[in-house]
Amino acid sequence: MRFQRCVRPKSKGHLMRITSLAVALSCSCALLPVTAVAEEAGVDPPLALSPGEAPPLPKQGPLAQPRSSDQVGFLKVLTEYVISPATLTPARVALGQRLFFEPRLSGDGTVACATCHDPDRAFTDGRPVSVGIHGRVGQRNAPTLLNALYNKHQFWDGRVSTLEQQAALPITNPFEMGSASIADAVSRIAGDTDYQSQFEQAFGRGVNEQDLLSAIADYERTLASFDSPFDHFIAGEANAISDSAKRGWELFNTKALCHRCHALTENQRDATLFIDNDFHNIGIGILRHRVAPLAQQAERELAQGDLAAIDTTAITGEMSVLGRFLVTRKQSDIASFKTPGLRNVVVTAPYFHDGSMQTLWDVMDHYNKGDGITDPWLDKDMQPLALSESEIDDVVAFLASLTSPQYKEVSDREYARQLAISKISRPQRDTARAFAPKPVQPAPPPF
Ligand code: HEC
Ligand code: HEC
Repeated sequence: MRFQRCVRPKSKGHLMRITSLAVALSCSCALLPVTAVAEEAGVDPPLALSPGEAPPLPKQGPLAQPRSSDQVGFLKVLTEYVISPATLTPARVALGQRLFFEPRLSGDGTVACATCHDPDRAFTDGRPVSVGIHGRVGQRNAPTLLNALYNKHQFWDGRVSTLEQQAALPITNPFEMGSASIADAVSRIAGDTDYQSQFEQAFGRGVNEQDLLSAIADYERTLASFDSPFDHFIAGEANAISDSAKRGWELFNTKALCHRCHALTENQRDATLFIDNDFHNIGIGILRHRVAPLAQQAERELAQGDLAAIDTTAITGEMSVLGRFLVTRKQSDIASFKTPGLRNVVVTAPYFHDGSMQTLWDVMDHYNKGDGITDPWLDKDMQPLALSESEIDDVVAFLASLTSPQYKEVSDREYARQLAISKISRPQRDTARAFAPKPVQPAPPPF
């Protein structure tokens, strides 16, 4: 059967007709405006900041626009399941997009959502851990928001489940946007007549907290990102990815064991989102922290279920490393984090919840040696993999085939940058351990 390609820009300067998800799903008649896709827009290293200074607010370029549903690999059924078409209207999405770039939602008018989720960087900030209001440095790496609409849990520790609940937290987090309350943030835009009419248009009433959060969440629900070379390959274009990437996809599902976590099911290959809606301790950060005393401290100091306190701790304190444990208080969740999706992963460096690894080769070296031997809570699927250097290159080539077309040029440049680093520096590589048998894991210490 012949495979039909989607209409999309072939090179910079071409125009792309964006049929937004909002429009596609609400069957409304309007189309969002014709938008040029700046494929030449590059991602530079994040700016160095002076003490006390928040990062600059990124410009709202074409990559901030809602994504088309007309993408190869687009998950139509799942999308219809997670989105209520009646509520996802163009007016709400446009309002949400504006609010996403609105620094007045922060305590001192300097920080917006986009500060840490820059559309030109696949909605991340390029930093190991995020920097917010007054230059305060948090504990965690900013995840991409592309495809966050499909997440069953939001945040690395899954402390909330909906995008609405999520959006409320950074606005008041003292290290992020630092507003005294959501009401306080709302009060700073409530007098703006443009906002008044936009809220009226979107929700039929004035500026208010609940609709503000809904609009932001609705905008995020339009950020579906597929149409990668890998999607074209899965759809039947045999030459859409390199032989190396094809070998990498095989390894991903076999010897490298990636599918044990980055797949919705282990029995069947899953080429959708590369998540399992679950949490695992894979030995990141845990070796640098004494987690057992921290867990005891959390039990003493943090009221279970106090979402605001968990949010502050996760972003601002050393107990952040406890991950999912902060939410569930189950010992088995100590230093467990959510399995992140892998689409556009080349563009979203550095890696892991603490941004501790610079390149995908470092990530592979970590998995290859099954790092975390002294970690009693390490996931059973972490073990030495005995991958050769060329097998590692193949898995990285596969990961690079998951880049959506808007980010192709940035991704190619970033891939080249990481490859160059990997030639001179492989801090995580331990070939002897990668080829050794799995060591015996220590028992958890008494609590
Ligand atoms: C100062 C930087 C910063 C700002 C500002 C910020 N975020 Fe984030 N965002 C992060 C970090 C860091 C995380 C991960 C935190 C964690 O997991 O504990 C995150 C996580 C998220 C997630 C969860 C994604 C996932 O895959 O789990 C969403 C959604 C999100 N942010 C949206 C927003 C929205 C909407 C705003 C504005 C209301 C916003 N962020 C403001 C840094 C920021
Ligand atoms: C035992 C479950 C498990 C296995 C097996 C696993 N992963 Fe992961 N992966 C995770 C979790 C959990 C995280 C987040 C961990 C953290 O940040 O602490 C993660 C993070 C990542 C990241 C970083 C993404 C980002 O945005 O920072 C990449 C890349 C990745 N995995 C690729 C792979 C590859 C490739 C394999 C196979 C070699 C693999 N994973 C095997 C669970 C797993």
